[in-house]
Amino acid sequence: MSSLKYIQYHGLLLPTVAHSAESLEYAQNFSVEDTDVFAVTYPKSGTIWMQEILPLLLNGGDLTPIQTVVNWDRVPWLEEKRLAEVADKLTSPRALVTHFPYSFMPPSFHTSKAKVICVMRNPKDILVSSYYFHQMATFLEDPGTFDEFLEKFLEGRVLFGKWTDHVKSWRRAELGDRIMFITYEEMVQDLPAALRRMSDFLCCNLSDEVVLKIAEHCSFKTMKANRMSNFSLVPKDYVDSDKSTFFRKGERLHLLDWKNHFSPEQLARFTSVIFKELEGENFSLPWSLD
Ligand code: A3P
Repeated sequence: MSSLKYIQYHGLLLPTVAHSAESLEYAQNFSVEDTDVFAVTYPKSGTIWMQEILPLLLNGGDLTPIQTVVNWDRVPWLEEKRLAEVADKLTSPRALVTHFPYSFMPPSFHTSKAKVICVMRNPKDILVSSYYFHQMATFLEDPGTFDEFLEKFLEGRVLFGKWTDHVKSWRRAELGDRIMFITYEEMVQDLPAALRRMSDFLCCNLSDEVVLKIAEHCSFKTMKANRMSNFSLVPKDYVDSDKSTFFRKGERLHLLDWKNHFSPEQLARFTSVIFKELEGENFSLPWSLD
């Protein structure tokens, strides 16, 4: 592995293009406010989608943020270098995203009343999405074959470590009603219903008409065409769009794309490792892994 592409942070691999010792220290010292909202995701679970959704929900459906500010500045990552540049420009209620496991959140998060929406996605589809993302992102290590990448994923030798560790970390009784869980699949199947659930959780008090308008602006098709969200403003040196694109598939093809990639042997191995690692946990997965 190229030491230049990743740094290690408490055992997790993070790409140097967006993370540094300074950015991680900044995250630890970040002063979380009670009105802040965090979208928590393991990479490839719907992070960019939440960067579109949260400003719309929190601003009554006003399109200005999603049409005038790039996604990484409008809802910055807690752990990334960019936060220090834009933190002062964020207006309350602020929305942030993070791939951090729970234990990496800053002390001010724990003493605040900030709310969390944790988006989970079927890990088999995360693996496929991540595999293509590694092919297009020149700032990441080449994923190798699908089989090789699957092993790395299961061993946690990928960005932000093991998926199972991440999802387990956020099941915290002490968060009480500060946290809501939603799945990427739920959002694909019925976006207005998912938005209604998030809006109620955040006490946004939105009419059905506004929720439907937000759903239209957060659809796959609309986001794929939004230059402020579709990564077309990322320098070409960082993404090779001949290999893959960020918005890979259309509409419902996001669901169960893994079936086009896993062999029966890979599926059996994947399922047995994930089940073993979640053994004894007091929550069940919202999807069947078979
Ligand atoms: P695929 O690679 O399966 O297409 P993240 O933002 O966490 O990196 O997640 C990226 C995944 O979310 C990609 O999945 C991307 O297509 C999908 N995604 C982003 N916006 C979406 C939307 N509006 N509807 C459905 N999927 C979306």
